Amino acid sequence: MTRHLLVTNDFPPKVGGIQNYLWELWRRLPPQDVVVHTTPYEGADAFDAAQPFTVTRSREPWLLPGPHLVRRVRRLARSHAVDLVVIDPALPAGLIGPRLDLPYAVIVHGAEVAVPARLPGARRLLRRVLDGAVGVVAAGGYAARECERALGHPLPAFLIPPGVDIDRFKHQTSAERIEARRRLGLQIGAPTVVSVSRLVPRKGMDTLIRSAALLAGVHEDLQVVIAGRGRDRRRLTRLAARVGAPVRLPGRLSDGDLVSLYGCADVFAMLCRTRWRGLEQEGFGIVFLEAAAAGVPQVAGRSGGAHEAVVDGETGVVLDEATPRSAAAAIGALLDDPDRLKEIGDAARRRVEADFSYDVLASQLRGALDAMVKQPPG
Ligand code: GDD
Repeated sequence: MTRHLLVTNDFPPKVGGIQNYLWELWRRLPPQDVVVHTTPYEGADAFDAAQPFTVTRSREPWLLPGPHLVRRVRRLARSHAVDLVVIDPALPAGLIGPRLDLPYAVIVHGAEVAVPARLPGARRLLRRVLDGAVGVVAAGGYAARECERALGHPLPAFLIPPGVDIDRFKHQTSAERIEARRRLGLQIGAPTVVSVSRLVPRKGMDTLIRSAALLAGVHEDLQVVIAGRGRDRRRLTRLAARVGAPVRLPGRLSDGDLVSLYGCADVFAMLCRTRWRGLEQEGFGIVFLEAAAAGVPQVAGRSGGAHEAVVDGETGVVLDEATPRSAAAAIGALLDDPDRLKEIGDAARRRVEADFSYDVLASQLRGALDAMVKQPPG
C-alpha cells in the first residue's frame, strides 16, 4: 500500500477519542508502510518500542505548524521514502500541508473544523488546507458536513467513521457480569448506568448526575459509574454530593476494567451537548460504539455526530434536549423494560459488527490512501 507518514499531536499512549481512532486504524495497516511522527508523552518509549512500525516523537509537547515543523516533516518524508504525508488534525497542524511540496492528506474529526467553518479568517485557512490536499479522511458525516460548510461545496472525502474493537468489547454472560460487578465494587443486582469519557463540560456529565438524583427516587438501588478523567472531575464529584446522586467517579480505569464496566452495565449514557452556539459539538462518540459492542443500549444527547453513533429507537435513544428530566425518563423507561433493553442491546451489537469493525474500516482506509496517491484530483 501507499507508504506514508502520519503527523499527529494525538497518538497513544496519550488517551482520548482521536488517539483511539488513529491507533485502532493505523495498527491494522501494513507496518512496513507506516511511519508516525507525534508528540512526547509519559510511557512513550516503551509504547514505541513495542510497535511494529516506526514512531518518531518531537521534543516539543505540541506540533506547531511553523517552518521548523515543515522542515522536519520534509526531512522525515525523505529519509523514510514516503509517498504521502497524512496530517491530523486539519487545523492547526494541517497548515504545514501547502508548504511541504509533497502530496498530503488531512484527517478531520469535526470539533476542530467547526470553529474555523464559522469564522471568516480561519475559514480561509481551512479552505487553503483542504484545497491543497490530495485527499480528506472524515471521521464521520458531521466532520464532512463541517468542512463542506467551510468550503461552500461538497467535499470529496473518504468517510472513515470511528469504529470499535468487537473482539475486545463483547456481550458478557450472567456469570461474567456478576464477576465484573464484584471486581468493580458494584451491587450485583442493582440497576446500573455507566458512562465513559474525558470529563469536560461538552460531555454533559452534570446532566447525567442530576438525572441520577431524579431516578434514585424511583430506583432506590440505582448505581451510576462515570469513568474517565478530566478537568471537570472535581466539579462533578461536588455536584453528585450536593444533589445526593448515587454516582461514583472512579477516574481513569485500566483497559481491562473499562471492558468489564461496559460489559456489566444495563444502560450507557452520555448526554453530550452543543456549546458556544455550535462552535463546540461532539464529533461522533466512540464510547457509544464501545457500549453497543458490549450489547448495552445507549442514551445520547443530540450534538454533532452523536446521532450517527446511536440510531434513535434502534440502538438507543437520542435526546434532542438532554435535560435531567428527559434523560431520567429515557433511562428509566429502558431500565423498566428488560425485554426492550435486550432487544436494543442486541440490535446495537449487530450494527457494530456489520458497520463499525476496525478491520473493515482499516481496509477502507488502506484503499483511500492508495486512491489519493494514484488519483490526485485535477
Ligand atoms: N482505558 C480507558 N480508561 N479509556 C478511556 C477512559 C478511561 O478511564 N476514558 C475514556 N477512555 C477512552 C474511551 O474508551 C474511548 O475509546 C476514548 O477514550 C474516547 O474518549 P472520549 O472522551 O469519548 O472522546 P474524545 O472527545 O477524546 O474524542 C473526540 O474524537 C473522537 C474521534 O473522532 C470526540 O470528538 C469523539 O466524539 C470522536 O469520536
